[in-house]
Amino acid sequence: MTNPSLLILPGDGIGPEVMTEVRKIIDWFGTKRGLAFDVSEDLVGGCAYDAHGTPLHDDTMARALEVDAVLLGAVGGPKYDDLDFSVKPERGLLRLRKEMDLFSNLRPAQCFDALADFSSLKKDVVAGLDIMIVRELTSGVYFGEPRGIFKEGNERVGINTQRYTESEIARVARSAFELAMRRGKKLCSMEKANVMESGILWREVVTEVGRDYPEVELSHMYADAGAMQLTRWPKQFDVIVTDNLFGDLLSDLAAMLTGSLGMLPSASLGAPGANGRPKALYEPVHGSAPDIAGQGKANPIACILSFAMALRYSFDQGDEAARVEAAVERVLADGLRTADLMGPEGGSPVSTTQMGDAIVAALDASL
Ligand code: IPM
Ligand code: MG
Repeated sequence: MTNPSLLILPGDGIGPEVMTEVRKIIDWFGTKRGLAFDVSEDLVGGCAYDAHGTPLHDDTMARALEVDAVLLGAVGGPKYDDLDFSVKPERGLLRLRKEMDLFSNLRPAQCFDALADFSSLKKDVVAGLDIMIVRELTSGVYFGEPRGIFKEGNERVGINTQRYTESEIARVARSAFELAMRRGKKLCSMEKANVMESGILWREVVTEVGRDYPEVELSHMYADAGAMQLTRWPKQFDVIVTDNLFGDLLSDLAAMLTGSLGMLPSASLGAPGANGRPKALYEPVHGSAPDIAGQGKANPIACILSFAMALRYSFDQGDEAARVEAAVERVLADGLRTADLMGPEGGSPVSTTQMGDAIVAALDASL
C-alpha cells in the first residue's frame, strides 16, 4: 500500500519556521506510529513570485490537485505590497481554494485553559470555549462577477458582487450540519437577510437543508448581531455557518476572543475525490507575521494543530489527532510559552524550535 501524500507549502514570513516544527511531528508519526506520509514541498505566495513571477506555479497547482492533503504555512509580506493585484501572494492562496473547490472552511475557536487569561474578555466568558465557524470559501463577494474598477462618467467606481447559487449554499450548509451532528447539535446561520437578497436565499436554503437534520437545533442571526453575540456570550454557540466575507470577519473576531490567535488551525475541505477523501488544505489562521520572521519567535502550535486536523479530516485518524492536541495541552500546562503568549508580566519565552521539540517529547510521553 502506498503512503498517503502530503504537499507542504511553507510560504512566506514565519511559514517556513513553523513548518519545520510540523515536519518533526510528521516524522514522529512515521517512526513511532507506523503512519508514514509521502511528503513533497513547494512554493506559494511571495517566494513563488520571486522564483517564478507568479504566486502559484501551474505545476504546484497540479500537484495540489493530486495529493491527499495540502498543508500551508502563510503567505505575504511588506516586500510584496506594491505588486500588481493579480500576482499578490494572497492570489496564490485564493487560486488554491478556488481550483481545489474548497467550499467548506472550518475554523475552530477554542480557548486553551492555560491561556484563558489572555483573552480581552473576562475569563468566565471564554474559559472552556469551543466553537466552530464554517465559512463558505469559494464564492460570494470574493469571486462574484462583475468585479473591477471601472470608469463611470468622470469618476471611477469599484465593484464587487455578492453572488450565491442555491447549490453553493446547500453544500456548505450540509457540511455544517454534518459537523454539528458530531458536536453539540446546534447550528447558527449568519447572513444579512434584512438587507441582502443573497442573505434571504441563504436563510431559505439553510432552512431547507436543515429538514434533513431534525436533531440539530437551527437558528438564524443577522451577521452584525452575530458579531455582537460572539463578544457578549460566545458559549451560546456550537457551530456557526456563514458566507465568505462575513466568515472572514467573524472568524478573526472569534479567534481573538480565545486569546490564542497564534494557536488556531483551520481546514478547508471540498468534495470527496476518487480516493474517497475530501480535497483538503490545512493552514493556521494566523498570517505570515513578517515583523518576527526569521527570529525563531513564532508559535508553531497553530500549524501543528492544522496537521492534527489533517489527521482527523483527511486520514481518519481522530485518535492520533487527539494525541497531538493533548500533547499541545500538556506543554502549555507545563508553562511553556512562545513570545506571543507572554503576558504583560513577562517571563522567558521559548523559541519556535524549543516549542516544537517539547511537543515531540510530549508525544513520546504519550506512548
Ligand atoms: C483568511 C485571510 C485571507 C482571506 C486573505 C489572506 C486572502 O484573511 O484566510 O482569512 O481574506 O480569506
Ligand atoms: Mg481573514
